[in-house]
Parts: sequence; structure tokens; C-alpha cells
Amino acid sequence: MTDFRSFLLTRAGTIEANPTTFIMRSKAWANARPDGSTIVVWRDEAGIHNAVVTPEDASARDSAVKLAVSVAAHSDESDIELPLTPVVRGARIPRRVSIETRETVAGADPAETARALALSLAVGDWVAISSRQPARREKKWWRRWLSAQFGNERSQHHSTREGASVVAVYAGSVDRVSADNLLHAVFAALPGFDLPIETYAPSTWSASSPVFGLSLAAAVAALVTGATGRLQLVTTLFWVFAAVGVLVTLLVGAGRIPSLPSKVRVGRFTGLFPVRRAMLRRPRPPKRSFVDKDGVTHDSEPGDYPLPRTSFMVGADLIAAFAAPQAGAASGENSTAGREAPAAVQDNVGPLIGVAGDIGVHLSAADMFSGIIALGSAGTGKSVFVHNVFGWTTLEKANPSGRPGFPGARNAVIAFENKGDGADHYVRFAQYAGDPVYRVELGDPARAGIDLFPPQIGSVEFRARLAAGALKYTFGEDSIQERSFDTLRRVFAAAFVISEHPEGIATVVDGVPDAGSPFLYAAALMGERGDDVAVALAGQLQGEAMRLDAGEGTDLGFASTQITPLFSGLTPSKRGDLFQAPRNKITNLLAAEQWWARPARLTWDQVLDEHLTVVVNTGQSHGGRPIDDKLTEEMSGLLMYTLYDAIKRRCSGWQEVDRHCTLFADELKLLAGKNPEIITWLRDQGRSYGVQPVFATQRTEQLDKRVKEAVTGFGTVLAFAQDNPQVAKQLADDFAADGSPWLPADIVNLPPYVAIVRTKVAKTRQPAFTCALTNFEAADGTVVEDYRAAQGY
Ligand SMILES: Nc1ncnc2c1ncn2[C@@H]1O[C@H](COP(=O)(O)OP(=O)(O)O)[C@@H](O)[C@H]1O
Ligand SMILES: [Mg+2]
Repeated sequence: MTDFRSFLLTRAGTIEANPTTFIMRSKAWANARPDGSTIVVWRDEAGIHNAVVTPEDASARDSAVKLAVSVAAHSDESDIELPLTPVVRGARIPRRVSIETRETVAGADPAETARALALSLAVGDWVAISSRQPARREKKWWRRWLSAQFGNERSQHHSTREGASVVAVYAGSVDRVSADNLLHAVFAALPGFDLPIETYAPSTWSASSPVFGLSLAAAVAALVTGATGRLQLVTTLFWVFAAVGVLVTLLVGAGRIPSLPSKVRVGRFTGLFPVRRAMLRRPRPPKRSFVDKDGVTHDSEPGDYPLPRTSFMVGADLIAAFAAPQAGAASGENSTAGREAPAAVQDNVGPLIGVAGDIGVHLSAADMFSGIIALGSAGTGKSVFVHNVFGWTTLEKANPSGRPGFPGARNAVIAFENKGDGADHYVRFAQYAGDPVYRVELGDPARAGIDLFPPQIGSVEFRARLAAGALKYTFGEDSIQERSFDTLRRVFAAAFVISEHPEGIATVVDGVPDAGSPFLYAAALMGERGDDVAVALAGQLQGEAMRLDAGEGTDLGFASTQITPLFSGLTPSKRGDLFQAPRNKITNLLAAEQWWARPARLTWDQVLDEHLTVVVNTGQSHGGRPIDDKLTEEMSGLLMYTLYDAIKRRCSGWQEVDRHCTLFADELKLLAGKNPEIITWLRDQGRSYGVQPVFATQRTEQLDKRVKEAVTGFGTVLAFAQDNPQVAKQLADDFAADGSPWLPADIVNLPPYVAIVRTKVAKTRQPAFTCALTNFEAADGTVVEDYRAAQGY
């Protein structure tokens, strides 16, 4: 067995984008490389690995370094272990071959080649590309053959550049089809490669068949000469020849005599794969077409392929590209490479979120105003990330660090959840930090609710407009248009008055409870309990206004004038038409009557003014009442809109006085499904109000386009693995905006709990990097013991 040395290649920077430089560097490698050096690429659970294996040679290390330099990698001598695959296949040229297309490729991106291959490699697959210098005669034969292929035109071709190499390509996979696909993928990824290929099994028995053929022929010859009775000596020689042939056949077949296939077999363990030597016999040269002296035209002939069929002549740059650990985050080596995280995130500038290599990664507290968003498929670790930032926020709140830009104690912390166990996580973190937390559960009437339209915040006129606005936000502009909005506003004015002063109105009308919520009375006024009840309620309200001589400046007087146009002079059927659309919107919300009727209530104003920490669960809670998804969504919308209103009223100028409001939401779609208003406001204006949004979303593509734009414009974007190709593309383009190479594949191929992070520190955009997120929650759901210390508190 040939002695060999193997070098792992790990990413050390960005590959040289200038093709000329790359070609030059890869040529330097090709010139230094011991013949038979093999570039191997494989994927295991940890990701993609790249290595180069060379026969033991004085220039082994030097050539590995040259290869590493050309692909912006580090080379470290290290044992490698290719995945053991049941099937190994090789590539070769078909018997009759001609160049199919002519593509002159200059300036193809080598990183692209590496990534294209990375996409085709499944876990447990490998690819090996073995190469050597061409012999001088081979070069000559090759040029002649190539130019005949090109009709004798002069042409640029990668295989005629200096450093061009003779290569053989092998792939291992679970079955024949996958291995063949892999081989085709390798050649497809080679920019400018223009020969057809076929695949074959490098089997030792088929390698021995030519020898076997010869020994058969010798045996036949021996029989023939033996039969003549003369030529005793010749006959004996033929028999000996045949016997040796059979022996050689057996030895080659059993792999005892080295042959290309037996070397391939060994290569599966060493990583060193064979490439055939130059042929000894001159191939049949190409012939030009000519007209002989009789006037007969002779067609041109392409001549024989000048290399062994299992070999290809390619530019050194084409194969060097495969050594590039540039497959971005698809490469396991890469995702743990500490050098990738910008220095600015390595200091304690805010919450510790994970590691890049061995180095902890922090997000900048002072830049949380610009927003944090985590995007990715289900189960990729978004929630765990959001919980951690929440945990840090409560730690900081309970033990203010006093560091510049850190939010400290004057921070209203609000987390929106739609699952009971999700809320548990937040609550546990707050409790761990020693930050008092209010838990609000839509499905649990025993807990405090949040009063969305409390009288303290303003007149009935103001609150009615707020309620209509909140409904419009929740249901979408298309769903609640001008007319419905106006109707809702008028009806809610009356409903607030009735709900707050039922005496003489609700108490005297049959068919409605005495103490209902504004939603209940609004629905009743819109005919949900029949037109008679609606008319009676409206009449009682107007009567009360008259009896008390309530002017328009009073809530009662205002409400009375507002509903008048809806009731006087309208036939019941006209009124039915007018009310139907807006009523349909609120009937579902009536299921939450227990919410509105809760005795203990918080208000958003209170939460903000007093810097409370609140976890609001609009979904099912443990042992709570069933809540359908629609109600969850609608209540989330109303809560978000009213909070937004409260922030606008209460938090103006908060940034200047170092007060904060940190908002957490694990499924953004719930808060901003149909309407971009709040999210764009948060992005554009939230900062001066002290608002710091921390959001996650699973179905980015389902968000309103403008919501999507707003969140992808947040200061910090974490891209977890993503199935949606459009979203992946958009994110990759974003990350690549500063010139670093990111491709959609990088995002699609991310392992779980690893994200590409693009963030800001001191208002300065940092280059995107990959980060393995840390889970600070133990398996039983508790916060890990040393969380406080890990976060520096
Ligand atoms: N950084 C991490 N390290 C290890 N395991 C994690 C990590 N993040 C998440 N997990 C595991 O994956 C599960 C799903 O994560 P989660 O954050 O809920 O995903 P998502 O919100 O993206 O759907 C968690 O319950 C946890 O067990
Ligand atoms: Mg989640």
C-alpha cells in the first residue's frame, strides 16, 4: 500500500473572487502536487468536509498548503475517515466521444462549484478526485485531439491552460443510482467541462478480464499448435502463457495484484485514489477531411480519445474548486469556525446567544432597537433562541448591569404566546431571574386579563375609534372597509357606554345580560340577538341621553348621536345589510366573553408605566378552556394593536430617558398576519419610543409582503434552516449584500440549531456569520443552573 498523508481543509476566509488569481494559485498547487493527489469531499452528520490526500512525498505538505491557499482554507494534517458506502462508482468517457457543446468559461466562481457539489451530497456520500500531471506526449495528443474536435479553430479551453491535470473521479453512496447521480453532479458543477461521461463499477474482476481474454487466446493457440503435432516448444510456451494468464486473472480479480479497481478499494479507507498513467501506444490521430487526386472527398476523422477512458484533462482550477470549504454553512467545519464571527460580537455587548467555533457570540443590547427576527422552519430552534433573549432581558431587569446601552430595570417586558407550554418557558426564565412576572391566559378566567379599552385611556369617542381600528388591523383593510369601519366606530361608542353604565339601558332591555362586555353589546346593537333587541337597546340609550340631557360633550350624549343614523329612518332590512359584514367580524370574539368580564384586569398603560413583565398566552392553556385558532389570532391582533396604541400614547421620548419596552413574539404571523402597519412603525419609529422587538416566524412566505420587508430589514436577522427557496434566496441576497458569498443553499442546508446571523453593533452592520445557538433550557424545561453566570450576571 502506498504511504499517504491526509490534510483536512477548513475555511479561513473568503475565496478569491478574481478568477485570474484563483487560476494562478491553483496552478501553483498543480505544479507542486505529487501525482495521484486526491481531493475528497464527504458529508457526515456534522456537515461537509474537504480534504486532500497525497502519496507520501517531500512536497506533500507544501502542496496541501498551496491548495489551501488557493481556496482560502487552512490545511491541517489529520486522519480522515470517509463514510463507508456499499457502492463505489467511477466516471469514464463513452467509447465514441465528441465534445458536445462549446462553452468558454472564464471567471466562473469556484465557490459556486463547491456549493453545487455540496447540494448533491447526502449524509454518508463521498466524492474523490484524483489527479496527476499529464505526460508530455499526452499533452501533445490532447491538443491535437481537442483542436480536431473544435474544427481546428484556435480556442481557449481550460484543459490547455498551464497546470491542466489528468483526473479520475469516483463517488460512493448507498446505491448505484445515487452514486451515478453524484458523479454526474460533479461534472455538471465543473464550469466549462464539455465531454459526455458514463459511469462504471471499478470491479477487480472486470479489470482482470483482458488478461483472461489473452490467456484464453493462448490456450486456443496451444490447442491448435498441439493438434498439428509439431512445434512442441511453441505449444508448451502457449500453455505456459495461458496458465500464467489465468493465474494473473485470479490474482487481479482477487485484488492481490494492484489494479485500478483494487486501488479504488483501498482508497475507500485511505482517501487516496488512483488515476491511470499515460497510454504508451499512440492513439489514432485525427484526420482532416481532404479531397484526393481523383476528386473524392474523404471525411475528417476525430481520432481516438488520447487519454485512458477513465481519465479527463481539466484545468487545475476546476478541480481545486472542489477543495474549497466554501459551501457556507453547509460545511460542518465552517459552521463551527470561530474566526468567522466578527470581533464586535465576541465581547459582552448583550445577550449571549451561542458559539461560533469556541467563541461566545453576543447580540448588541444597544442595538436591540433595530429589531431582532428569527426566521426558519419548525423545530430549528427559534423559540429556544427567543426564550433565551427574554431570559437575558429579565436577568438584566432584575440585576441591572449598568453597562452602556443595556436596558436595565426600566423596561416593560411583554411576551406574546399562543401555547401554554410556550408561556411556561418565559415564566420560568423570569422566575429564574427573580423578575416578578404576570401571566395572562386567555383560556383561564381565574387569571387577570388585560383590559384593551379601559375608560382611563380616554373618552368613548377615542376608545370607539380605537376598537374599530383594532378590528380593522386584525381583520385586514380589505375585510373592514370604510363603511364597516364607520359602523363599528358608532356602534362601539354606544357599546362602551352601555357596558360601563348598564343601568337604565341594558338592565331594562330583555334579551341582553345586565353586565356584558362592549363586544357583547356591540354585537347586540348590530342585530346579533335580533333587530328588536338592537332597536330596544339603541332606543334606551337615546332615551337615557335625553332624560339626563346629556350633551354631545358627554360620553352618553356622543354615543346617542352616533347611533342615531343607524337606527332612525332605516328599515330593518337596510339595517341588516349595513350590520351584517361588521357583525360577522365580531361574533367569533364573543367566545371570549369571559375574558372581558374578568374582575382582575391589567391595562397596557399600567404595564408600560410601571415597567411590568407580562406573558400573554392567547392560546390554549393547561387545563384551560378550549380556544380555537381563529380566536387566538383575533385576540392576538387586538392585543397587539391596543398595545401599539398605548406605546404611542405613553412611551414617546422613552429612548432619551433610558426607558424601554421589549416585545417578544414567537410567531409573528399572529401579531401581524394581514397588516404591516405596526411592524413598519416599530421598525421606523419604535426606537424613539424605547421599543425593542424580538420576533420569530416560521412561515415567512405567508406574511404580508410589507411585513416581510419590514422584518427582514431589522437590525438583526437570524436565518435558521429554511425550506422555502424564495425566502432562502432573499435572505442569501441580503447576507451577500456586503460582498460576502452566501447562497440560498447555505440557508437550506443549515443543520438544526445553527443560524446565519446578520447583526448590528454600535449601529454598524456586521458581516453575516454562522452561529450554533445555545439551549439554556434543560430537558425537563427548567433553566440551566449556570445560566446567570453564562450571561454574566
Ligand atoms: N440551540 C439548541 N441546542 C440544542 N437543542 C435545541 C436548541 N434549540 C432548540 N433545541 C431543541 O429543539 C426543540 C425545538 O426548538 P424550538 O426552538 O421550539 O424550535 P422552533 O421554535 O424553531 O420550532 C427544542 O425543544 C429543543 O429540544
Ligand atoms: Mg417555535
